[in-house]
Parts: sequence; structure tokens; C-alpha cells
Amino acid sequence: MRKTILDLQEMAQKGEKIAMLTCYDSSFARLLEEQGVDALLIGDSLGMVVQGHDSPIPVALEDIVYHTECVYRGSRSAFILADMPFGTTGVNPEDTFKNAVQLIQAGAQMVKIEGGAMMCETIEFLVARGIPVCAHIGLTPQSVNQLGGFKVQGRAVGQAQQLLRSAKMLEQAGASLLLIEAVPQLLADQLCEQVSIPTIGIGASAKCSGQVLVIYDMLGLGGYIPPRFVKAFIKETGSIAEAVKLYVKEVKSSLFPADEHCYK
Ligand code: KIV
Repeated sequence: MRKTILDLQEMAQKGEKIAMLTCYDSSFARLLEEQGVDALLIGDSLGMVVQGHDSPIPVALEDIVYHTECVYRGSRSAFILADMPFGTTGVNPEDTFKNAVQLIQAGAQMVKIEGGAMMCETIEFLVARGIPVCAHIGLTPQSVNQLGGFKVQGRAVGQAQQLLRSAKMLEQAGASLLLIEAVPQLLADQLCEQVSIPTIGIGASAKCSGQVLVIYDMLGLGGYIPPRFVKAFIKETGSIAEAVKLYVKEVKSSLFPADEHCYK
């Protein structure tokens, strides 16, 4: 049986960590869930690791739809969420809804939307129409041009306070999950305390309800200098299946991320 948002919520309530990885095709979908991965994210990181771009900005909605269909066909039990790519959210809630429908029809059970408080109206609109949303805050790679690079967010006091306010507002707007990327560990801890929905960290904190990594990164295939939060699990294991199994084990036992994978 496929996991649902209720299963993820129950895991978070019981303190069982959620192991999430990005996934873009059906062979990996099968392998990842066989090794115990709870949730598969069709991330717009595919723009970099599959399509060879230097940011997720060129990724089109049709690309995510196609890869979501592939992942859906290869998996039976994992929860599936799909990224809404650059330019497909936030212009107005109606258009965002139509775009999100395509991802849900392709097999996603939830869409992920980058951005803070300004996305609240859109999130309310989607949730009221049956589309669950994962809000993504901190480093939001679609805003790389605005941020001036893939940089840690929330180090300045004002920015940290803004992130804390946004987290609460996104929960109130109806987001079911909060993904926190590349913020200082202490701020990530505060963000986790700020909300009662499950939190998923990447370059955040082991206190999050779960963790996510880009699958190509943890297999040492990223093709760029990996950020601090990446652990190349393949180096300790030698096979893809064993690397994924170790990732799941270390997430579940809060061994990953260690302090060395978090920002000060
Ligand atoms: O696109 C992606 O893969 C993501 C993760 C890095 C969280 O958003």
C-alpha cells in the first residue's frame, strides 16, 4: 500500500524519522523503496543532475510531469511529491492550481512550492481544492539569481526572524510539510519548534522530522563540488542499494545529518 500524508504525519508524531530522496525514474523508484525510503521527491534538481543545466531555472512543468509518471510507474509504497518548477507558481492561484493538477494527475500526492509568506494565498487556494502542499523555505534554488548564488540563508537576524514568521504563516495557510534547506542548525531547530507539521531538512538539522538528499549527490555523481550537507554514502558502501540502505538507517537513527553536515 502506498504511504499517504497521514502516514508521514503519524511517523512524525511518533518520532520515527522520514527518509526522503529525490528520484527521477522508475528503476530508481523501485530500488529506493526496496531499501526503505519513505518518500520520493521529483525535484527540479533534475535540471542540474539529469539535464545538465547549472540551475533548476530551465526546468519545464512537462519535464516534472514526465519524470513523475516514470517514478509513479516504478513505485508501489513510497509517498510521491513533485516540485512545481520556476515560473509555474505565484502568478495567480488559478494558474498555479492548473499547473499543480498536471503533477497530481501524473501520480504526485503532493506538490512542493518554493517561497515564503508570499505563497500563502496560493497554498490556501490549492489546499482548499484538494492539493496538498509542501512549502520549501531557506535556500530556494529557483531564486538563485535573486540570492546571488546557492548560499546559506537566515544568518542575519532579520532574515532568520522572517523565516520563522514565514514558517508559521505557511502552516496556517495549510501546508502539510515544511522543507527547510541550507539554514544554520540553530535556526533549523527553532523552525522545527515553530510548526506542528512535519519538517524535512536538507542542510538544516537532525531535529527535523525527516531528511532529503539529491540521490545523485549521495551517490557521488553530482558533477559539482558538493555542498556541506551532502554525504556521499556510496563511498562507505560500494553499491547503490547499500548506500541507500545506509542513508535510511542513518536518517532513522538521527546519525545523519551529523554536525559536520550542518551550518553554524
Ligand atoms: O529539487 C530538489 O531536488 C529539491 C531538494 C534539493 C530538496 O528541492
